[in-house]
Amino acid sequence: MYACTAPPLSESPRTSYNARMPNAHDAPQVCIASHHGSFAELLADAEFRAAAERPDGACLVEFRVDAFADRSEAKLREALVAFTPQRCVVTYRSPEEGGRDANASDETRLAFAKTAVQAQAAFVDLEVATFARLGDRARGVFADRKSTRLIASFHDFEAVPVYDRLHALRKQGEALGADVVKIAVQPKAIHDASPLLDLLYATDFAKPLMALAMGEAGFWSRVLGPRFPQPAPFTFARGEGAPGTAPGQPIWRELLELYRFRRIGPATPVYGVIGSPIAHSLSPAMHNAALAALNLDGVFLPFRVDGEPAAFAREIAPKLGVRGLSVTIPHKETVIAAAAEIDPLARQIGAVNTLVARGGGWFATNTDAHAAAGSFEEAAGGEGALNGKTVLVLGAGGAARAVAFGIKARGAEVWLHNRTESRAEKLAQDVGARCVKREEISRQPKALLGVINTTSVGMHPNVDATPLAASEIPQGSLVFDTVYNPLRTRLLELAEGRGCRTLNGLKMFVRQGAEQFRLFTGRPAPVEVMEQVVLQALAKRG
Ligand code: ATR
Repeated sequence: MYACTAPPLSESPRTSYNARMPNAHDAPQVCIASHHGSFAELLADAEFRAAAERPDGACLVEFRVDAFADRSEAKLREALVAFTPQRCVVTYRSPEEGGRDANASDETRLAFAKTAVQAQAAFVDLEVATFARLGDRARGVFADRKSTRLIASFHDFEAVPVYDRLHALRKQGEALGADVVKIAVQPKAIHDASPLLDLLYATDFAKPLMALAMGEAGFWSRVLGPRFPQPAPFTFARGEGAPGTAPGQPIWRELLELYRFRRIGPATPVYGVIGSPIAHSLSPAMHNAALAALNLDGVFLPFRVDGEPAAFAREIAPKLGVRGLSVTIPHKETVIAAAAEIDPLARQIGAVNTLVARGGGWFATNTDAHAAAGSFEEAAGGEGALNGKTVLVLGAGGAARAVAFGIKARGAEVWLHNRTESRAEKLAQDVGARCVKREEISRQPKALLGVINTTSVGMHPNVDATPLAASEIPQGSLVFDTVYNPLRTRLLELAEGRGCRTLNGLKMFVRQGAEQFRLFTGRPAPVEVMEQVVLQALAKRG
C-alpha cells in the first residue's frame, strides 16, 4: 500500500476572507504555451511579449522549440534575452511524447537545454525518459544550473496510467535531480484521474508535482496546482484565441482574472458546479465574481462529471478541497445519494441543486424552488400574491418539480401540463396539483394568474421554439420563462403580444446562485455584481 493522505471533507472557514495575497515572488505563475511555428512568429506576438513584461511577474512563456521551423541555439538565446530569461520555460519535446520534430535526437535536444541553462531560463523541461537515456550527460548539464529549475516530465495522451506506474515515474524524476516533476495524462472522465490525485497527496516525495489531466474532465488540474500539499510553481495556459499546446488549456487571462490563480494556495476553499455538459455554465463567472467582490479566498470551477455524481461528491471532491457544489443537468436527482443530510423541501422535490460540506458530510438542498417561486411571487405583486391563485406549470422534470413545490409552498394552486402525460401525473400526485390537457389551456381558463415554463423548449440554440402557441397563452396573465439563454425567448415575445406581463429566467438564476453563495461562504451574496456578470456573459454570447 502507498503512503497518501487525502484530506477529509472539511467545512469552509467562515472568516477566510482577506487572505494574505502571496507576494509576487511566491505566488504561482501562469505559463502561456507558445503555439507558434517559429521563433520569429513568437517574437512578433505582442500578446506574449506584453504578458512576459507584466510588472507583477504573473506570466511565463513556454518556447516549444520542437515546433519552431527556424530553431537554432542562437535564435533560442536571442528569444530568451528578448523575453527575459527569468520569464521563460524552454521545452524541446521528444517525438515519443508529442514533440513536432520527428528527427530530433536526444543529443540535439540536450544541447538546446544546455543553452537555456547557460542563459538562465526560469525552467527547462526534459522528459524523464530522455533524461534516463542520456544519464550522466544530462546530469552534467543540469549540475551546473544556477537559477534554472529542471522539470522532468512524462506524457500519456491516451489514458491515465495506474498509480504504481505514476508513483514510479515521480520517484524516477526526483532521483534524476529534477526540481519539479510534471505528469500529463488523459482522463476520459473525471474519475479516471483518481490515481493522479492520490499521487498529489503521496507523502514520500520532496519536490512539487505538476499534475495535469488533459481535456475538459481534467480542468481542475489546470487551476488547482497551487492548492496541493507540494504546490506546483506554475500552470500552463493558452493565448487568447490560440489553440494551445495540449487539450483543455484555459486562456491565461481567465486564470488570472476569473479564477484569481495567483491567490490560490493550500487553504483556498474550492467550490464548483457539476454537470454534463458544463462548458457553457454561467455559474463559474457568477460565483467567482462574487468571491472577488467580497475579497474572499476561494475559487469556483466547472467540473465535467459524467457517470456517478454521488461518487464524485464522496470520493473525488474532498481531494480537490471542494466545500460546496452547485448541481446541474443531469445530476440533480442522482447526486442525492451523496447527502448525509437533506433539506425537507428538497427531499419532497426529489431533486437538489446544492451540496454544502457540513459536519464531515454533504448537506443537500434545493435553492431553485425558492428562487423561482420568490421571483414569480415578487413579479405577481409581492408576499402573499400567489395565495389561492392558480398557476400553470409547463414541464414535469426536475425544474418543474422545484417550481411546483416552491409555488405550492407559497399558497398557489398548481396546474400541470407536460408533453409526456404520465410524468405530469406523477408530479401532480406528489405535489397535490391538477393535470391539464392542451385543449383546456387553449380555452383560456379565466382562473389562471400566470404560466411558468420549466421545459427547455426555446433554449439556445432552438430559439424559435415555444412551449405554447400565441393563441394558447392566457391573455393578460403573468408569463415566466425559467430559460435565461436567451433572455427574451419566443414564448416571452408571444406573451408580450398577448398583453401579458413577462419575467425572464435571469432573476431566478441569480437568486438560486446567491443563496448557494450564502450557504457556501456564510456571507450575503453581492447580488447586483452577480446579475451584472451574468448579463455581460449572456451579451457576449450574443
Ligand atoms: P430538468 O431537470 O431541467 O427539468 P428534465 O428532467 O430532462 O430536465 O425535464 C425536461 C422537461 O422539458 C420535461 O418536462 C420534458 O418533457 P417530457 O417529460 O415529455 O420529456 C420537457 N421537454 C423537453 N423537450 C421538450 C420538447 N421538445 N417539447 C415539449 N417538452 C419538452
